[in-house]
Amino acid sequence: MSKTNVSPSDSYLHEINTQTWSNGRHLVRCVKVIEETKDVKTFCFMAEQPVMFFFKPGQFVTLELEIESLQVMRSYTISSSPSVPYSFSITVKRVPGGQVSNWLHDNMTEGDELAVHGPVGQFNCIDYPAKKVLFLSGGVGITPLMSMARWYFDTNAEVDMHFVHSARTPDDIIYRRELENMSSRISNFNLSLICERQQTGQVWSGFRGYLDEPKLQMICADFMQREIFCCGPEVYMSAVKRMLKALGFDMSRYHEESFGATPQSVEQDAVDQAEIAVDEADALDSADMLNIEFLKKGKSVQIHPTETVHTAASKLGLMIPKACGMGICGTCKVLKVSGDAQMSHNGGITDEDVAAGYILSCCSVPSSDLQIDF
Ligand SMILES: Cc1cc2nc3c(=O)[nH]c(=O)nc-3n(C[C@H](O)[C@H](O)[C@H](O)COP(=O)(O)OP(=O)(O)OC[C@H]3O[C@@H](n4cnc5c(N)ncnc54)[C@H](O)[C@@H]3O)c2cc1C
Ligand code: FES
Repeated sequence: MSKTNVSPSDSYLHEINTQTWSNGRHLVRCVKVIEETKDVKTFCFMAEQPVMFFFKPGQFVTLELEIESLQVMRSYTISSSPSVPYSFSITVKRVPGGQVSNWLHDNMTEGDELAVHGPVGQFNCIDYPAKKVLFLSGGVGITPLMSMARWYFDTNAEVDMHFVHSARTPDDIIYRRELENMSSRISNFNLSLICERQQTGQVWSGFRGYLDEPKLQMICADFMQREIFCCGPEVYMSAVKRMLKALGFDMSRYHEESFGATPQSVEQDAVDQAEIAVDEADALDSADMLNIEFLKKGKSVQIHPTETVHTAASKLGLMIPKACGMGICGTCKVLKVSGDAQMSHNGGITDEDVAAGYILSCCSVPSSDLQIDF
């Protein structure tokens, strides 16, 4: 077969006019709902006009929902890969008693519109490139690692992947068929599934119990040479970290994402805070209190130096949007006009924003009186 050289001037390729999204607020429409397991569903979204949803595999979006007339925000990892850019998906597990996860499962259907914020997040495989990776996940913590694996698979990346997933029972393994398919098609994707237990009548030939040192050594003997990405329940990630530290793993090559604790609805939070504010104020030494002024609202409140700027707003009944409550998602960002604050965030704000005076109100405590542009 002869090769044809096509010079740029002969090129028959057309420019792509489709817009791409960037971090911000976007209106999207649910186009597909997929039942993954008995308590996990995947929701796929597209924009009204064709938009290419590029992001770094592992990043997340924050959904803005209205449930019973209250605004509620929750963060969800994008479980799809940017290699399929005309839509994106999130995969949600029902949390017993949880407001948003159950609402999504029971109400979100094809055609529904909603706003999402993002994409953001430092837990991604683009910022930590490696030739050999080990993905460790437990339960629905599989979502960011699946996005990374799909990306490497679709782009034929020369990355040696070992994907180790722990689930309660064989029926709880999310994306099982797709994982097995990837593992059967390429030699650089090794899959190990671990189930805590199996139900009567279930056939299971994979690993049983929990991920521990003997299993890790057996499954992935060269784990010390790999970049490790881990996501799962807090107890799972703590156990993994303890194990790796004890084995002398270089923890600068360990990256994790916590799905963390979730807030109540923004308004309910505000009401609750307003109710307890009076009691707390009585109990605190007034000499320690600092004044937080919200300039646009023309309101101010005295808070203790251990309380956050978000709490200060809530005490006044002001609703700064909040989703993760732990400095990951950036939803609660506000501009600090004057004063000093200590911020202990988890990557939810850029150095540029910090330099420009922005703080994340959920994880910033005042060290002087503050003026906030809100
Ligand atoms: C960066 C990031 C990425 C994430 N990605 C995913 C993902 O891919 N998939 C996924 O499924 N989840 C993900 N999460 C978790 C998700 O954001 C939600 O936390 C999760 O869906 C639970 O929300 P919920 O509204 O259903 O539960 P909530 O209503 O927030 O409740 C959570 C739990 O707290 C209990 N609770 C609530 N209020 C109270 C109270 N006042 N007193 C006592 N208990 C209370 C509930 O009963 C429940 O057990 C992610 C989180 C973060 C931060
Ligand atoms: S609510 Fe997520 S960073 Fe503050």
